Amino acid sequence: MVNLIRESVKNIKPYIPGKPIEEVKRELGITGEVDKLASNENPLGPSPLAMKAVKDSIQEMNLYPDDANFYLKNKLAEYLNVSTDELFIGNGSVEIIHYATLAFLNSSERVIMAKPSFIMGKIESQIMDGEIVEVPVKNYKTDVEGIISKINSKTKIIYIDNPNNPLGSMLTAEDVEKIMENANEDILVILDEAYYEYIDREDFPESIKYIKDNRNVLVLRTFSKIYGLAGMRVGYGIAKKEIINALNRVRLPFNIGRLSQVAALAALDDDKHRERSKKMVAEGKRYLYEKFENMHIPYIKSETNFIAIDIKRDTDKVFTNLQKKGIIVRPLKPYGLPTFLRVTVGLSEQNKRFIDALKDLGWN
Ligand SMILES: Cc1ncc(COP(=O)(O)O)c(C=O)c1O
Repeated sequence: MVNLIRESVKNIKPYIPGKPIEEVKRELGITGEVDKLASNENPLGPSPLAMKAVKDSIQEMNLYPDDANFYLKNKLAEYLNVSTDELFIGNGSVEIIHYATLAFLNSSERVIMAKPSFIMGKIESQIMDGEIVEVPVKNYKTDVEGIISKINSKTKIIYIDNPNNPLGSMLTAEDVEKIMENANEDILVILDEAYYEYIDREDFPESIKYIKDNRNVLVLRTFSKIYGLAGMRVGYGIAKKEIINALNRVRLPFNIGRLSQVAALAALDDDKHRERSKKMVAEGKRYLYEKFENMHIPYIKSETNFIAIDIKRDTDKVFTNLQKKGIIVRPLKPYGLPTFLRVTVGLSEQNKRFIDALKDLGWN
């Protein structure tokens, strides 16, 4: 049987998502509340405007969605000041990573990324039998010089999650510029900005400028994070027309559901929800940083809605014990960080419950 499987697929370790609340309740027999702080979702819930729009469209579920995503693309184009043919809508931004490797990566061409970084860049490149070069981070930040040093004539893709998931650190405009100076026109640079809307730093790159300059850059953003629509699966890519055309050649028809399109369209207009979410995360980070400092738990300062902490011991037991207390976080062992946990910033009461649970487990 194993011989049926493509060679490049044989050694792939499937993506491990954050544990769903239902699964933890079932496995541990928990009947009370469970806080999922494992997948960087928005604990405020979906944008209210998106919920209303979905309710209003529910009777149209029998119809196939608009394959061209006309309204969503037009609104995004206006919002981002790009043209609609510079946009690609994906079933989550992960789908766009999938299509990018499918459309661009030949077998044994090189893909360079940070270690750790969001795992789907690696998995998708493995599927296509790429040569994956992972460059260890330096001081918990993507190592720009290290990445540049790995560029060779076989390099096809440089995948940068900015900010980095699972670390939460970011590359500045200057850092990205250095990468762009060294990436020739045979290379596609993917700048995955899933947490873009949470960033409050003046020195974050304006990546769209590279598209205006006709560079081979694919910028990825998503409705899964600040917009609270992770369950609807909508992400988007911004790139020059030729790159978008290539992605469209490998795209499945109707890849974005009807209700998902409607939800994303409405969420884009929901400034109030976006502002509330941003404020909640900023306040939550301040609170958690202070508590981690008091408890002598080292943490990485984050530009996102999650924080990686180093509990200085193997995380297996603590992860399970936190679950028993109704809190799901993400162990970073699969990312090569066996003493790190990643926690999504929650509502203030969830953050407090998390800190109280750590106290119960012996931190003080
Ligand atoms: C860097 C990064 N890219 C992409 C994604 C996936 O987002 P989506 O839900 O849009 O597929 C995530 C989600 O955790 C992420 O952290």
